Amino acid sequence: MPQIDSLFVTRLYRAKLSEHGKSIDPQELNASCLGIADDDQAGQNWCEENEFPGYTSYASLTDLPWRSPIFADLVASLDKHVAAFAKDCAFDLGDKKLQLEDIWINILPQGGIHTAHIHPHSVVSGTTYVAMPTGTSAIKFEDPRLQMMMAAPTRLKDAKPELRNFIYAKPDVGDVLLWESWLRHEVPMNMAEEERISVSFNYGWS
Ligand SMILES: [Fe+2]
Repeated sequence: MPQIDSLFVTRLYRAKLSEHGKSIDPQELNASCLGIADDDQAGQNWCEENEFPGYTSYASLTDLPWRSPIFADLVASLDKHVAAFAKDCAFDLGDKKLQLEDIWINILPQGGIHTAHIHPHSVVSGTTYVAMPTGTSAIKFEDPRLQMMMAAPTRLKDAKPELRNFIYAKPDVGDVLLWESWLRHEVPMNMAEEERISVSFNYGWS
């Protein structure tokens, strides 16, 4: 038997938020997200002016953990998840650590999409899921080597996950996903009637 190794792997972390820190009631987090969005006129204006489908607090609010105690608890939990992921990635962080840079709310209505992007200037990015109605979008990750594969055949539909060029992850409410910030991802169209609500964040090395 030949030896065939997987090289240059891309790690995707998935866990229950509740594995670290205080337990966070998904209903309460959902209500907080909706309440903050409702009050955030500047954010609503930004979304309208930029034709952003639904709502994001990314451009308007930089203080969610100070604004709301449930977000402070959430960040305390995320810090531990991110530390566990950094360990798995074997990052040599020296005497610095991965620290929260941004955290924001996303509310994606029916028909809304979030096109492919990376999170520049950060090390680890991720999302925790607050409302995932039946039939709503997965998150789609793209093979970072895709642009080098001009002549490579596409992969069989039943190829092993580590050999596929695209991965669709379908998290549940209360899950947290983490990946390295350079990994391109997108949220395909939300086909559910209800809103898809998530909280995303970036961690930097400082
Ligand atoms: Fe993103």
